[in-house]
Amino acid sequence: MNKSDAYNLKYHITPPYGLLNDPNGLAFFKGQYHVFHQWNPGGTEHRNKCWGHAVSSDLVHWHRKGIALEPSEWYDKDGIYSGGGAVHNDKLYLFYTGNVVRADGVKESYQCAAVSEDGESFYKMGPLFEHPTGYTRHVRDPKVWKDQRGNWWLIVGAQREDLTGDTLVYKSEDLSSWTCLGSFLEHDDAFGFMWECPDVLQFLENDVFVFSPQGLSEAGENYKNPNQSGYITGKITETGKFEGKLSEFKELDRGFDFYAPQSFEAGGRTIMFGWMSAMTEEAERAVPTVQEGWIHALTLPREIEWTDGVLVQKPLRELQSLRLDGIQGDIQQNDVWLLPSLQAELIIRFSKLAGNFRMVVRDTVQIEYDREHNSLTVWRTNWLTNEQEYRKAVLTHRLSELQMFIESSSLEVFVNEGEEVFSLRYFLEDIVQRSVLLEAGGNEGKVSIYQLQECVE
Ligand code: FRU
Repeated sequence: MNKSDAYNLKYHITPPYGLLNDPNGLAFFKGQYHVFHQWNPGGTEHRNKCWGHAVSSDLVHWHRKGIALEPSEWYDKDGIYSGGGAVHNDKLYLFYTGNVVRADGVKESYQCAAVSEDGESFYKMGPLFEHPTGYTRHVRDPKVWKDQRGNWWLIVGAQREDLTGDTLVYKSEDLSSWTCLGSFLEHDDAFGFMWECPDVLQFLENDVFVFSPQGLSEAGENYKNPNQSGYITGKITETGKFEGKLSEFKELDRGFDFYAPQSFEAGGRTIMFGWMSAMTEEAERAVPTVQEGWIHALTLPREIEWTDGVLVQKPLRELQSLRLDGIQGDIQQNDVWLLPSLQAELIIRFSKLAGNFRMVVRDTVQIEYDREHNSLTVWRTNWLTNEQEYRKAVLTHRLSELQMFIESSSLEVFVNEGEEVFSLRYFLEDIVQRSVLLEAGGNEGKVSIYQLQECVE
């Protein structure tokens, strides 16, 4: 089955066929950026997980390399689950969870490694360690990094026996022998039933602990997706403990579709990809691309910075190289613009903010700024129920800029140069609709719209 132009994404990493989920094994190795991802090449359901692989020399133009790791051994026979990458002694190491369903139906998980000298073929090294007592079989998604003193650290998502989420931390000097140091973030209170895909970002001022807790209850405008991904700031101690407050957990992305993000360091930058989906299984089944034999995408890469005491997420500057023709102009009061193609970038820079602002992308996704509450709300039509649904965030600063990456079925909205991001998928029946309506509400500013290149082969 071929992908049709109706919903295919052309500057995001998608699977050529089958199902894609979490970004995995991100690394810069021997002059190339490597992105791996969860991939079921055999269908659009969540089973038979392999690692798909794409490489790039600029983080923008991607070349798919097919399967990097697939189930083959007793310790990973039912799935190569998520994990991170690390470069050591001129070799690329991949850490992953081997998923096993025993003949008697009991499920097991093993934290494993694989290694490569050329970044193309990987040799499996097998399970790395046993799990400590006090945890269920839900231990997965190892992420590894090196500290300033040359020690290696590994954190892995876990579930305690009382069915609450946690993260375990391990230390190593050589990437093969690991010592468990217990819980990464000591906590008594329950915060979801499982923490998936833990990660650590390190800045001069702070360390940031990112994880994806399952099972948080909706609270006001927070935690409205089935599962969330967020972070808390703090410090990692020399004994491998994260000192930070769970009560300060903040969602990374305020949209409908963002989950299981992973970061890596390259050239002094912290770069993150997420999985552009936080859908229920029911909504997944109803995604129209399932009929074409594929589903899901990664988000665009974002650069994560710590600026003036806050975490900001900016679209990678290399994405500017995707720009083809552009049009510019002033915002008029009731204005209709036409996207040059279904791969577009739209930037609005406000020079005077006098009132509310509303825009409608492709006659379907609405973005509303409420000046009194300084909040931004994004509405879309749910393709399963046909109902309107929204996500909302209160901004820290006054609205000054909206930067949007638009594809035929995805939208990423960066607010105020990365103060907040809203990522979402949408599926339109009128697949050629290209209008952008602006209701300026007395606000003034400039609009720029660019056609973007197609760049994943
Ligand atoms: C997160 C996740 C991971 C797991 C992988 C399996 O989306 O559930 O915890 O390793 O997906 O595909």
